[in-house]
Amino acid sequence: MARHFLTGEELTRDELLRLLERAAELKRDRLGSRALAGKSVALIFERPSTRTRVSFEVGVHELGGHPLLLREGEMQLARGESVRDTAQVLSRMVHAIGIRTGAHEPVAELARWSAVPVINMLTVDHHPCQALADLLTLKERFGALEGLKLAYVGDGNNVAHSLMLVGALAGIEVAVATPAELRPRIAPPEGVTLTTDPREAADGAHALYTDVWVSMGDTDAERRRELLSPYRLDEALLEAARPDAVALHCLPAHPGEEITEGVLYGERSAVWDQAENRLHAQKALLELLVRG
Ligand code: CP
Ligand code: NVA
Repeated sequence: MARHFLTGEELTRDELLRLLERAAELKRDRLGSRALAGKSVALIFERPSTRTRVSFEVGVHELGGHPLLLREGEMQLARGESVRDTAQVLSRMVHAIGIRTGAHEPVAELARWSAVPVINMLTVDHHPCQALADLLTLKERFGALEGLKLAYVGDGNNVAHSLMLVGALAGIEVAVATPAELRPRIAPPEGVTLTTDPREAADGAHALYTDVWVSMGDTDAERRRELLSPYRLDEALLEAARPDAVALHCLPAHPGEEITEGVLYGERSAVWDQAENRLHAQKALLELLVRG
């Protein structure tokens, strides 16, 4: 049975912690693994991407494999071929499938019919690969994850959901501050608190995290900007966290909107490490899923 990675909950805590250790090793020794030698990975992008696309393509290459980039409109999926048939055909030829799309259901359907691992590269509900890189970044900055508090402020979206699920799995405290209307759409696991007050979330936090106010596929941009303006990650909010707290953002950023330019480019920003860590964390994930 293939192992999939759709929400992050497929991993045990031990596997997650070992994956992060392995990612750190691969970061020190970029070409130290040939886990995908002779293997191919299909990367289906039905939504735009910079970091995810480049990190997966480079990651598969560095592991000795061949990445196949499949953009929206290039496959028969676009002409109505079913997800089931696509999964069965790709499974006969490639060793893993990554997919970025809108709704989460087609990704679950792909996994249901695929004989090879399916990796969620972002849906409107989850972005678990991002959360792996975020945890790796926290581990690098603070030495260990145990005892850390991560505060997310902004829209209760895919990135917030994945931080809640994968953060809880790792055993860190996660506090999520959103407007009531944009609260997360999943139940908070143990160790995760929800609030509407960004300062309450930031209090005692080791990291403050935000994401765009208007995600791919969102249509109510003006309403969101209005609701989210008290949730900007700015210098004052950073002051409410621990003195050694770092600022995180999955990117792409809109400086002046959800994060100030000063915080994004300031000395407490860890966002560039976070972006690079997509590569190392996903290589460790591919090693774990594509065995044998
Ligand atoms: N953070 C992230 O997923 O970035 P991309 O949309 O550029 O892949
Ligand atoms: N929430 C954002 C994340 C982009 C990486 C989106 O879905 O567009």
